[in-house]
Amino acid sequence: MVKVTSLSARLVYKEMRMIWDPQKPFLTLAVSQSVTIPLLVHQDQKAITKKPVAREKFLFEKGFSQMDWLKITQKHSDLAGLMGQSNRRLISMDEVKQHKTGESIWTVLKGRVYNISPYMKFHPGGVDMLMKAAGKDCTSLFNKYHAWVNAEILLEKCLVGILDDDR
Ligand code: HEM
Repeated sequence: MVKVTSLSARLVYKEMRMIWDPQKPFLTLAVSQSVTIPLLVHQDQKAITKKPVAREKFLFEKGFSQMDWLKITQKHSDLAGLMGQSNRRLISMDEVKQHKTGESIWTVLKGRVYNISPYMKFHPGGVDMLMKAAGKDCTSLFNKYHAWVNAEILLEKCLVGILDDDR
């Protein structure tokens, strides 16, 4: 009789990278994928791999890919909704909490305050997930799901200000 034990291997087979080439008028986006592959290990140590099950991805309407988003960020001058204010302004957590709806949904990520309203429909994890960040510091949630994502580039034009830790 052949004894079979099972174990899983989690593979991250592509690293999330945004490649900026000054010679080309666009950013190249390499999206990471991770999959869990169940392995069946026989007594004689030969591993049988099953077909990998890819993580479920949110399906987007046409025109809402990350490349579409990056094109929009290059065209629009005031995605943050600054209306002339500086995006180096110090902002208290109390002020962040007041922006949770409509065209002005703010979140704190790694000490920076962003208006994530324009990005909502482009978020690959879906609107509902991103709404969890509304009016809050989402740094831990962000790192839990995708610490490798370069939000500084993706949300550069959505920067509203810097979190004032003292208020
Ligand atoms: C605030 C800035 C955020 C940005 C710029 C952002 C961006 C992204 C990007 C680029 C991806 C695709 C990653 C990939 O395919 O590897 C993604 C996926 C995802 N995000 Fe976010 N995200 C943000 C916040 C959040 C928050 C706060 C949550 C959770 C509450 C979240 C949950 C997810 C989930 C569940 C996915 C799908 C992960 C998967 O592919 O399995 N994200 N996000």
